[in-house]
Amino acid sequence: MKKFWWQDTIIYQVYLRSFQDSNGDGIGDLNGVISRLDYLKDLGVDTLWISPHYDSPMDDNGYDVRDFYKVSEDYGTIEDFKNLLNEAHKRNMKIITDLVLNHTSDEHPWFEAAKDPNHPEHEKYHDFYIWQPPKHDKNGRRMMPTRWKSWFGGPVWQYNEATDEYYLHIFSKKMPDLNWRNKTMREELKTMIKWWVDLGVDGFRVDASNHLEKNWDFPDGHPGYEHFSSLPKHHEYLEELGREIFRPNNLLVIGEAGGASREEALQYAGFDTTEFDMLIQFEHCWVDTDDDNELTPGKWAKGTVDVTKIKQSFNHWHDVFKENGWNTVYWHNHDQPRIVSHYGDDAQYHNRSAKMLLYTLYFLPGTPIVYFGEEIGMTNVDYQKLDDFKDVEVFTEYDNFMNNGASHEVAMQALRDRSRDNARSPMQWNDSKYAGFSNSAPWMPVNGNYETINVQRQLNEKDSIFNHFKKVLQTRKKDALAHGTVEFYDIDHPQSFNYKVSTDNVEYLVLANFKDQKLTMELPESIAAYKLYLSNMKTDANALEFEPYEARVYRRKK
Ligand code: NOJ
Repeated sequence: MKKFWWQDTIIYQVYLRSFQDSNGDGIGDLNGVISRLDYLKDLGVDTLWISPHYDSPMDDNGYDVRDFYKVSEDYGTIEDFKNLLNEAHKRNMKIITDLVLNHTSDEHPWFEAAKDPNHPEHEKYHDFYIWQPPKHDKNGRRMMPTRWKSWFGGPVWQYNEATDEYYLHIFSKKMPDLNWRNKTMREELKTMIKWWVDLGVDGFRVDASNHLEKNWDFPDGHPGYEHFSSLPKHHEYLEELGREIFRPNNLLVIGEAGGASREEALQYAGFDTTEFDMLIQFEHCWVDTDDDNELTPGKWAKGTVDVTKIKQSFNHWHDVFKENGWNTVYWHNHDQPRIVSHYGDDAQYHNRSAKMLLYTLYFLPGTPIVYFGEEIGMTNVDYQKLDDFKDVEVFTEYDNFMNNGASHEVAMQALRDRSRDNARSPMQWNDSKYAGFSNSAPWMPVNGNYETINVQRQLNEKDSIFNHFKKVLQTRKKDALAHGTVEFYDIDHPQSFNYKVSTDNVEYLVLANFKDQKLTMELPESIAAYKLYLSNMKTDANALEFEPYEARVYRRKK
């Protein structure tokens, strides 16, 4: 098997805005991250993925880039960024940043020129974006070119009066999509990427990577995702970046690309191809939707967690990448709810279910990506007011729910259960006002449970979620579990989550009850050869009965 530095690393995703404020403005920043490097090192993390740090009007918290070469004033300066690299490298840690290539902010100078026919550089930049003339109905009224729907809920088209055209934005209207067919545009982006590589970043997470190519015939359709997602030509663009920049610089590059088939996944992240090193896919992220809910449809409709689907997805991706590529393992990122609220129980069984989720994921082979706050079991937000929410997506969707006939309360509950803001509230460091995140009111409210769920408290409790996390991460490293092979037991069972992971020297058996009902299991015959290594409650290693969310890890030397 091939060996790369990133196969044995443990990645931790820092949502910059919410991790640690250092200058008292209520917004997380780069110096805040530096001040927590020792904490992260102690947890067992060695690579940080930092969410977008670029200059931005923050319509989508930095995924709307205004200047790719400038650090956002909210987050610090380029000197702070260099310092972060330096401080991380001194500790043998790596930094990977978010690379946003599908769109810019509408305040980016390219777009300012593109939309204005009187701008001296209009000619050059107009074609950096994707424009279409209006259609007209039989009464001559202006219509959008297609009915394609944006990932954030509204239409993908925004009218620009100055040119009498619509521009395409598959995310918010302040995020116009770039035209990847334009070679000059591609060259400009490549220069920018090289600039960050020369500065010393160790890799990238490539945002929205499967959306770079669009169907330029603009056929109608609703929602029309197939016309701007995963079109074959986007691989050509990624291959170009891989060949010219990613591969020659020994970087770790992780592509965000949902919905990939086996073949496509290997094209992205196979050892023999030149696009990415790893893939972020989402198959396991929404296995609990309720398709009959018409008030808050799609991902917003909460249903029963389909445990079988999670296991099948993990098994599938392990199988896709074994020998031919490399897998990531993660529960969620800044786009999904907090895992303990989503698939566990953040009330009665908070501690137990958070540990169950820890054991069921982090013994799996591959490279783990821990999301900030997961190590202490941070939960979904408890916001009661609509304007406590901050995400651009929340507001279009709230209006949609109301138009569907939902009551304010139903809409608010959907936001508290499913919105991206759930994963974005400030890190809970201690029980002081603002949870040690900042000494002034944070940009979005701290979760009300910070006095009981916080780092300081868990550092001091031997049996805390944090200390179990640390032990699991140490175990991964000690026994090189990243390189193991996995075998699921009873994969179609709707409640158990049982698997064996083996390396040349050791085997771990993870047995878990994924639900809030008791479960009687048949233990594998070989159980006698194993010793109980970890459990999330006092238990008898041989008991067949599993309490709600009970999970045990057994170990044996080979
Ligand atoms: C995916 C990112 O994870 C998400 O947060 C963002 O809104 C979109 N891409 C657009 O950049």
